[in-house]
Amino acid sequence: MVCTLLTVLAAFTDAMSKRNLAERSFIMIKPDGVQRGIIGEVIKRFEQKGFKLVAMKFMQADEALLKKHYADLSEKPFFAGLVKHVSSGPVCPMVWEGLNVVKTGRFMLGETNPADSRPGTIRGDFCIDMGRNIIHGSDSVESAQKEISMWFDEKELVEWTPVQHSMVYE
Ligand code: RTP
Ligand code: MG
Repeated sequence: MVCTLLTVLAAFTDAMSKRNLAERSFIMIKPDGVQRGIIGEVIKRFEQKGFKLVAMKFMQADEALLKKHYADLSEKPFFAGLVKHVSSGPVCPMVWEGLNVVKTGRFMLGETNPADSRPGTIRGDFCIDMGRNIIHGSDSVESAQKEISMWFDEKELVEWTPVQHSMVYE
């Protein structure tokens, strides 16, 4: 009995130690989200969830950067319009960190098409049209790493420990 308990405890500790609390996602409010005043709402949702802000800036991206960012979509008929729109005004790129932040971040954003996004998600609550879906979120840990290095220098990523850490994670 004691032996079984110890085995279960060891497996649990092992699983816990493999959790990546430092996973990062690249989240960017697109020009339509900036123009509609939704920056604060997005930050509020990621903060109140418990994720940690690691980097943020406000800038206008040129077409070259956006063509690189959306390279996987370069053959799509909407690619030119997408690059034109996202380069048309200021954007707010951010890096958020925490356990499963890529997957959870995508849930928080909702579906690509706002019409398929449930109320309670960012796209479900704040937009209507696919080409004006106000926010970008990395779709995998691998693309997050690529996107973060495309948009931020290493020195712009801030290392810090929120005082609430032990109240967010057990
Ligand atoms: P994002 O990269 O911006 O987070 O969006 P996503 O992963 O949900 O969707 P993705 O397939 O990566 O597409 C990037 C953006 O292109 C626009 N789009 N338009 N007209 C269309 O069929 C279409 N499909 C995608 C959307 O603005 C989408 O967010
Ligand atoms: Mg995408």
